[in-house]
Amino acid sequence: MSKAKVVKRIGILTGGGDCPGLNAVIRGVAKPAHDHGLTVLGIQDGFEGLVEGKAIELYNKDVSGILTQGGSILGSSNKGDPFHWPEEIGDEIQILDRSKKAIRNYEAWNLDAIIAIGGDGTMHISNKLSQMGMNIVGVPKTIDNDLEATDQTFGHDSAVFVVSAALDRLRTTASTHHRVMVIEVMGRYAGWIALNGGLAGGADVILLPEFPFDWEIIYDKVEQRNLQGKRFSLVCVAEGAKAKDGEMIVKAKDIKRTDPIQLGGIAEHVSKMIEDNTGLETRYTVLGHLQRGGSPTPYDRMLSTRFGTFAINLAMNRMFGRMVALKGSEITSVTIEEAIKNQKLVTSDNSILHTALQVGVNFGVKELDHSVIRWLGKY
Ligand code: F6P
Repeated sequence: MSKAKVVKRIGILTGGGDCPGLNAVIRGVAKPAHDHGLTVLGIQDGFEGLVEGKAIELYNKDVSGILTQGGSILGSSNKGDPFHWPEEIGDEIQILDRSKKAIRNYEAWNLDAIIAIGGDGTMHISNKLSQMGMNIVGVPKTIDNDLEATDQTFGHDSAVFVVSAALDRLRTTASTHHRVMVIEVMGRYAGWIALNGGLAGGADVILLPEFPFDWEIIYDKVEQRNLQGKRFSLVCVAEGAKAKDGEMIVKAKDIKRTDPIQLGGIAEHVSKMIEDNTGLETRYTVLGHLQRGGSPTPYDRMLSTRFGTFAINLAMNRMFGRMVALKGSEITSVTIEEAIKNQKLVTSDNSILHTALQVGVNFGVKELDHSVIRWLGKY
């Protein structure tokens, strides 16, 4: 591998599920890199491109005008894990280790470092490649905002904006028809999109993967609202939420993916249960990939640009094996190893959750009320 003192050639890739802001990071990396005379190689379709040898040189004109553009000009994949590489052999799919092939391409391209933009899965892969000697700098992306090492990942704010805008629209039709509206948002194990989007959009009930819910509490909440003359309710449910006596609703499984499970269906289930058990007319909406598409919010454009420029500075200073992170209002970095230790989940002592409880949001969990009392006691 390259032991060169001066970084001259860098690769950049976007891995895992896409989100608004990826192109803004690519731009934030490439513009200063070009200014410093570096060559930037865009590796296509995430780690898949690293294994299969797919890359194009990114010139200055290629990164111009992409700040506001959603998706990734490089493409992405959540099936390209070099350490978990699915290959069809005869009639069956075998999972193979193709990491050595990834390293060979890195060397053949004469790269001094790779900037890997991605979430939890991408950082796990980056950590393993880094242990094999590859020079990697990570940039944390995911609409889920579930990386413990950074206060915020880019993409989350844009997803929250979509959820809140959808709730605004659902409110008018819900109140006109006196209905309960259930909206399903992304978030498999972490409920940040549901919590932040639900609170911003004024949801009455928010159901999170972290807190299995009690059906009776939800029925009671929507019925009480009705009795108080508020003849509609908005329920925001994360795709990974489940009832106390239930399981997550899995829509499909695909062993080729880094995480084989595809979730979906909880809103339909919650909607039917509410209608059957309260008699209130109920409808559901699944927001799906609308949360991942389109232009990033101004906050995400800023965060992505700051992450990108910080990442190229780390690379030029040979600070490899590190991931860019937001701490408070400052950009800093942590080791990738540290970054992947814990998933950031919503906990009962979270202040946003407490804020939601104080404005009357119901989480379908009786025990949460006690934590509010404890929290208020601090003041
Ligand atoms: O991790 C981001 C995410 O959008 C999750 O919130 C969601 O469960 C998953 O990706 C969906 O992945 P896919 O687009 O592969 O179905």
